Amino acid sequence: MSDTARIGIVTVSDRASRGEYEDRGGPAIRDYLGEVLTSPWEAVARVISDDQPVVEATLIELCDDENCCLVITTGGTGPAKRDITPEATEAVSEKLMPGFGELMRKVSLEKVATAILSRQTAGIRSGALIVNLPGQPKAIGECLDAIFPAIPYCVDLLDGPFLTTNEERIVAFRPKKK
Ligand code: MTE
Repeated sequence: MSDTARIGIVTVSDRASRGEYEDRGGPAIRDYLGEVLTSPWEAVARVISDDQPVVEATLIELCDDENCCLVITTGGTGPAKRDITPEATEAVSEKLMPGFGELMRKVSLEKVATAILSRQTAGIRSGALIVNLPGQPKAIGECLDAIFPAIPYCVDLLDGPFLTTNEERIVAFRPKKK
């Protein structure tokens, strides 16, 4: 396997997928990873509608065929009728990782009362960690700052590439050597 980490970036938005508005979430995730990761990585980006079969098929493609070690979604985590990203994530995951959603809601609640409206979760499929973020671009940094310290070790445990970070931004916590 190549040392270059492949990271899926999935914008789940009916309007962005129809070109009715600009995707700001996907680029915000890409910029964040560019600032934080010091090991080689490449993005595998998708902009898709809020249709559950489409979200499931995209997550499966990125985990199984595109060999991503990490897939980050943005959007579709709220209570509205078309918000189904957590359901799609759970449907394709072999294991759920509820701690990610719990921590992101906790830190987000310190910023915005409506953080409890996000049902964001995380799971594992085919050796990839899938993490849901809300659709608000400003939520992306807020959520990723909280969970990123644990992501490199999670990827280690999944036998993925060794991710290193710019320690002025994020210190990756590895409790023990692999
Ligand atoms: N979390 C953070 N950190 N910042 C935010 O602005 N917005 C909330 C919540 N979580 C928000 C947040 C709001 S208003 C909603 S409706 C839910 O995320 C779901 O958003 P989504 O459906 O775009 O995923």
